[in-house]
Amino acid sequence: MRKIAAGNWKMHKTAQEAKAFFELFASLVPQAKSEILFAVPFTALPSAVEAAQGKNFLIGAQNMHDEVKGAFTGEISAPMLKSVGASFVILGHSERRHLFLENNAFICRKLRRACEENLRPILCVGETQADREEGKTTAVLQTQLSECLEGLSFENAQKLMIAYEPVWAIGTGKSATPEIAEQAHLICRTALAEKWGKEAAKKIPLLYGGSVTEETIEALIVRPNIDGVLVGGASLDAQKFANIVNRIN
Ligand code: PGA
Repeated sequence: MRKIAAGNWKMHKTAQEAKAFFELFASLVPQAKSEILFAVPFTALPSAVEAAQGKNFLIGAQNMHDEVKGAFTGEISAPMLKSVGASFVILGHSERRHLFLENNAFICRKLRRACEENLRPILCVGETQADREEGKTTAVLQTQLSECLEGLSFENAQKLMIAYEPVWAIGTGKSATPEIAEQAHLICRTALAEKWGKEAAKKIPLLYGGSVTEETIEALIVRPNIDGVLVGGASLDAQKFANIVNRIN
C-alpha cells in the first residue's frame, strides 16, 4: 500500500491563500512517493481543485451533512462536494465531536452517504486523556468503530480510510509515541478484521494524527500498522508539510 500524507487545514486559508500555497507546495514535492491529500475549507475547494489539476495531490473536505439536500441551513452535502471536485471527506474529527456535538450515529449516516456518493471518507477515532488514564482506550476505539461503521457494506469498506487521532495529541505538540500509535492502530486493525476479514482490513489505510511534525514523521511511518498521517498545524506551511511528505518512502 502506498503511504498517505494528508493535511487537515481546519478553519485556515482563504481561496487566494490556498492558491498561493499550492503553487509553492507543488514545486517542493516533485519526487513524492506517498499519496498526498488536502482537506481544505469549503470556500477554498474550487481554487484548491484547480491548483491540483495535473499534480500529485488530491483535494477533499473536512465535513458534510448526511442528507443530499433539504432545509439544513449552513450545511453542505456530498453531491455539492463532488460537484466542485472533492474526492474525499474527513468525518467524525474530534473537533466536530466535541465542539459541535456530533455523535457516532450521525457520523455513521454521513459515512454511508459519502460512500454512496463516491467520496472516500476518512473516519477519525480517538480517546481522550481521561479515557486513556482510566484504561478505556481499547473500548472507546472499538465502540467508535463499530457504531460509526454499522451497516457499511464490504464493497464500501474499500473506499474507507481511518485516522487514529488521540484527542490529547491534537494541537498540543504532544504526539503519541510510535509505540502508543502502533498499539492503537493494531486495535483498529483487529476490529476491522473482525468485521470484514483479515485481508480486507489490511487494505484499509490507518493514518495517525496528532501533532505530527517533520521531527516525528520518520519514527511513526515505519511502524507496520501506520499507513499514513493526518497532519493539522504542520500542513499549513508549504515547506513544513513538504518536509514531512519528503521523509515518507
Ligand atoms: P495537529 O492536528 O497536527 O495540529 O495536532 C491534527 C488533526 O486534528 O487532524
